[in-house]
Amino acid sequence: MEKTINGEVLNIPEHVAVIMDGNGRWAKKRLMPRTYGHSVGAKAIEAACENCDEIGIKYLTVYAFSTENWKRSVEEVSTIMNIFRKYLVDSIERSNRNNMRVRIIGKREGLPEDIVKKIEDLEKATAGNTGLQFTVAINYGGRDELVRAAKNIAKDYKDGIITEADITEDLMSRYLDTREITDPDLLIRTSGELRTSNFLPWQIAYSEFYFTDCMWPDFDMNELVKAVRYYTGRDRRYGGVK
Ligand code: IPE
Ligand code: IPE
Ligand code: MG
Repeated sequence: MEKTINGEVLNIPEHVAVIMDGNGRWAKKRLMPRTYGHSVGAKAIEAACENCDEIGIKYLTVYAFSTENWKRSVEEVSTIMNIFRKYLVDSIERSNRNNMRVRIIGKREGLPEDIVKKIEDLEKATAGNTGLQFTVAINYGGRDELVRAAKNIAKDYKDGIITEADITEDLMSRYLDTREITDPDLLIRTSGELRTSNFLPWQIAYSEFYFTDCMWPDFDMNELVKAVRYYTGRDRRYGGVK
């Protein structure tokens, strides 16, 4: 979709996925604990939702906690879990005010029970909202998602629900956590790292990648527009010739 922003014609991606990285380094540079970076990073998520909605992005998916992030100190992990607790509760009112639907992807197993309950409450409370479709990846790992999908496919095959011939790319997509959302058009990673760290490996097969040195707590509307400007300049061929 084309949209004019400050006199500039931009091609707005339908779905933007973000690897929100750099909270720890952002805090360290300010001589603050890493956990402070996570609190400010959480605020930047709220702003990103508003900014994406404002410029006409339909789906925003963010990587908040990976299956690998449990390797961090107990203190850091428990601070991040507390940020989720507050975020999941506060989001109900804010999302309903903004017509935003929130989904959480990732493995529920291994998450504290009260967080799983808060996730279910938030998803249910916002299920009817038709504005920004916002997805948060918590305890998410792309390989874990594929393994869970493979197990469910095996089970449905064994139960006679599907046949071998039913197993197509489309069916695979429907067994993933992202079954209700489109594949990302644009993947953004902040903090200067050039890797995808196990985020949406199946879904980003044809996404455009934008890497920036900006640390996640500093990611504002100006940075979002820069990413969309980059996307506007890309020629998406999908293996064909133009
Ligand atoms: C991203 O910031 C947030 C999470 C992974 C939870 P980091 O905490 O990875 O920040 P850096 O990469 O150490 O600076
Ligand atoms: C990726 O960031 C995970 C999230 C943003 C939640 P990491 O900081 O965990 O990734 P690596 O360790 O640099 O690959
Ligand atoms: Mg990091």
